Amino acid sequence: MKVTSICCLGGGYVGGPTMAMIAAKCPDIQVTVADMNGERIDAWNSDSLPVYEPGLLAVVASARGRNLHFTTDIRSAISSAELIFVSVGTPTKSHGIGAGRAADLRYIEAAARLIAEVSKGHKIIVEKSTIPVKTASAIKTILAANSSSQATFEVLSNPEFLAEGTAVADLENPDRILIGGEITPGGNAAVEALAAIYARWIPRDQILTTNLWSSELSKLVANAFLAQRISSINSISALCETTGADIGEVARAIGMDSRIGPKFLNASVGFGGSCFQKDLLNLVYLCESFHLPHVAEYWRQVVHLNDWQKSRFTEKIVRALFNTVIGKRIAILGFAFKKDTNDTRESPAIYVCRDLLREHACLAIYDPHVDPNTIRRDLMHAGIPKDLLTTNLEICSDPYTATTGAHALAMLTEWDEFRTLDLPRIYDLMLKPAFVFDGRAVLPTHTLKTHGFDAFVIGKGD
Ligand code: NAD
Ligand code: UGA
Repeated sequence: MKVTSICCLGGGYVGGPTMAMIAAKCPDIQVTVADMNGERIDAWNSDSLPVYEPGLLAVVASARGRNLHFTTDIRSAISSAELIFVSVGTPTKSHGIGAGRAADLRYIEAAARLIAEVSKGHKIIVEKSTIPVKTASAIKTILAANSSSQATFEVLSNPEFLAEGTAVADLENPDRILIGGEITPGGNAAVEALAAIYARWIPRDQILTTNLWSSELSKLVANAFLAQRISSINSISALCETTGADIGEVARAIGMDSRIGPKFLNASVGFGGSCFQKDLLNLVYLCESFHLPHVAEYWRQVVHLNDWQKSRFTEKIVRALFNTVIGKRIAILGFAFKKDTNDTRESPAIYVCRDLLREHACLAIYDPHVDPNTIRRDLMHAGIPKDLLTTNLEICSDPYTATTGAHALAMLTEWDEFRTLDLPRIYDLMLKPAFVFDGRAVLPTHTLKTHGFDAFVIGKGD
């Protein structure tokens, strides 16, 4: 089966960039991204994309209007597609059974029901969202129970491994593509049809095919292993601070062991992003559901350590500022969960700012790409009352305004522009002692101290 028309339900951080890359690489395939969020779709159809991602606009512009389309007409998009990616959100459940751990699959179920209702003929349904192992079985049941007799389906798992900020490079040159399918003639044919699309630009030996459950589970496990590495290095960062060791030097020393490798060993104020915590909690819940409490407890610790890392950073600030930050201006540089993205979901900055606002500090926040309304919304969702935000929060348009009259500067995102800050100017603008708390090890400790700052850099001992 050669696929000539694709649609994707969900035009978010994954659906938009992934489909744009497929459309750019396969000009003969019609690709439609369908989302009920009209504002998002309008933005995808403009030059101000809803997702800030280096290089993405060029990829979108190369195919948009030719074979890449963005629409809110979800039914028509399903109807005309031979292959349908489902790339809707799978957040953590906020209430009911498994609240705070299990994945909320309501958007997956709604998408499956709509596909069943609209479809005629044969369609390949591809899980792109990250979901608990065995979700394909639920999707199949919903499709079978709700579709007309003329419709037939194959369900595949094709998890996405892109990281935000490097999405274009990751999609263009992924470490691997993973496709899981049923080991039946129909399943094998569907796997081959999807593999043939990726094979247009990715070497065949990097396209792995597995059974459905291995593919679904591998996605959760990949994120769990990555997050575990960060919690491991962050746990050692605390030990470095008290012993005088330097986490950068330790990471380099251990990373040169080829069995460990150098990547994902940057100590930080904690990992953020929409997925690591959600997917770890999902894994914990799965283990509990399958009566594996020891395995669940093992992975739960990765989340606990991350929570501790965020709160110990805030405590460090409060203690250093003579145990009170009431009314003190603190400049926050960076609010996104990592550089090169406007995404703030689960950003460590939210929790550090929340805890400082609870201490009644006055925050002056600067981030080069995060919308000020997003910052206010995130802090409100984190439980900060509106009146406190009115009196104690200022959103600044540059780092120098933010640091003017500040008692302290907290570096929470590693944006490249922060590496070249005019430190003597900032020192002059701040109150003395001028405290710097670098949660991303962006600023050289020695230089900070030379310029007169009272500096704390994550993982660096005195
Ligand atoms: P997102 O919230 O940015 O986008 C999801 C979109 O789906 C929203 O715009 C929503 O309006 C839309 N939607 C919901 N139900 C729909 C329906 N029935 N029909 C059409 N559209 C619908 O989410 P995201 O960050 O793109 O993540 C999507 C999935 O991909 C999640 O499962 C996530 O875990 C996984 N994932 C995300 C990343 C990442 O970097 N963000 C990377 C890999 C995997
Ligand atoms: C992560 C994975 O890297 C992707 O493979 C996966 O597809 C994606 O989750 C997902 O499923 O959503 P992402 O969250 O976009 O990607 O970004 P990462 O680069 O993994 O960073 C996650 C968090 O860890 C960030 O807050 C980052 O600052 C932090 N981090 C990362 C560290 O603190 N130290 C490091 O060494 C690396």
